[in-house]
Amino acid sequence: MIDTGKDKENGYIGPEGVVAKRKQYFFPCTHHFYSNPPQIVRGSMQYLFDDTGKRYTDFFAGVSVVACGHCNPRITEATIKQLQTLQHTTTIYLTQPMADLAERLANGILPGELKRTFFCNSGSEANEGAMTLARLHTKRRDFIALEQGLHGRTFLTMGVTGIPMWRSDDYLDQGVTFIPRPYDPATDNETAARRSVEALKQVLAEKGDTIAAMIVEPIQGNGGMIAPPDWYFREVKALLEQYGVLLIADEIQTGFGRTGRMFAMSHYGVVPDIMSMAKALGNGVPIGAFATTDEIAASFNRASASTFGGNPVSSATALAVLDYMEQEGLVERAERLGGLLKAGLQGLQAKHGIIADVRGKGMMLGAELRGADDGDSAALTDRVLEAMKDRGFIIGKNGVARNVLAFQPPIVMTEEDIKSMLTELDNVLAGVQA
Ligand SMILES: Cc1ncc(COP(=O)(O)O)c(C=O)c1O
Repeated sequence: MIDTGKDKENGYIGPEGVVAKRKQYFFPCTHHFYSNPPQIVRGSMQYLFDDTGKRYTDFFAGVSVVACGHCNPRITEATIKQLQTLQHTTTIYLTQPMADLAERLANGILPGELKRTFFCNSGSEANEGAMTLARLHTKRRDFIALEQGLHGRTFLTMGVTGIPMWRSDDYLDQGVTFIPRPYDPATDNETAARRSVEALKQVLAEKGDTIAAMIVEPIQGNGGMIAPPDWYFREVKALLEQYGVLLIADEIQTGFGRTGRMFAMSHYGVVPDIMSMAKALGNGVPIGAFATTDEIAASFNRASASTFGGNPVSSATALAVLDYMEQEGLVERAERLGGLLKAGLQGLQAKHGIIADVRGKGMMLGAELRGADDGDSAALTDRVLEAMKDRGFIIGKNGVARNVLAFQPPIVMTEEDIKSMLTELDNVLAGVQA
């Protein structure tokens, strides 16, 4: 018997009631997917359940978070055990899980010489800390970022966010120079990446000595699953080094197996100077972190602390996440299942003219839909999302024009889940075109 949460005693109000409360009590900046949204009441590995007991196969994982599956029993057991033992003290008292997690990340998880970690609570906070660290180390103020990137909702991180939709503040930091991203639908990826590198050269020549760091997503998520050519980040890193500019890799969406590597930068053979992490590290329990080398970390010697950062519960959870990923071979699984999903999406692209492009790596894939114009393709994307949801599949969307179907599922899903989704997507695409 599935607990649908439909218990009036517990104050059940149903999806309409939730929408009404959100309308009345949330800020108008918050939105939800779907014109007919389900009320999600339960999750179990790759599946979500609504208040009617209907099951959905989740292909978005709460925006690339729940890589190990919803309410994964082995991970929640560790979380609950820690909750019942010691929940919170903050970093001024000694607790072991946080120290164990920092050690674990340094020994075999993080690449190269990234050995020191500062824990916080979210992706935005991790990037904000990474940027502060870059300023402290270089004693420079400014940043370079890629157009259409997304790095967070705090002052500095919104300043380096290039997607207009997510720049909510009219008075953002002015010390940011954006360069074109290594992708342009009007040309091929090599040409676009070359253009991006040329723009970087120009900025560095003009004002390299004022730039603390360049911040990048190895694969842009919200920007529409943009994976640069293999050589791109190696050239970027070499150029930055010439000017003493640090490279911050925002692995918040791409990290922890998502792309078929532990971190996406390793597809490019590059170790960043600073790496930020969040999302999948806690599998749904809030945690963020930024990591760097001994040398760079030494520059962050003024006092700093996060009340909740690395608290025993999130640290014990993250340790259980890393155990689970290793024991179940999730990184390799993401590569294998991602190959299957990508091939399936490419098969649908060959069949349906509505799919303009399929891209991404591992289990971080996008299918861009083609409409008469941007508005039309965004509306088409919403129709596909709604129809897939009605058929029991949760798919995400992103892209600057909001016209990219986003596939970032729990990595624990099966080949059967992928095949069933592709069959339904085939039917839905035929329907929306008819
Ligand atoms: C690449 C990237 N960086 C940073 C963030 C911000 O993370 P958070 O929402 O945890 O603050 C996000 C969120 O989606 C993200 O995708």
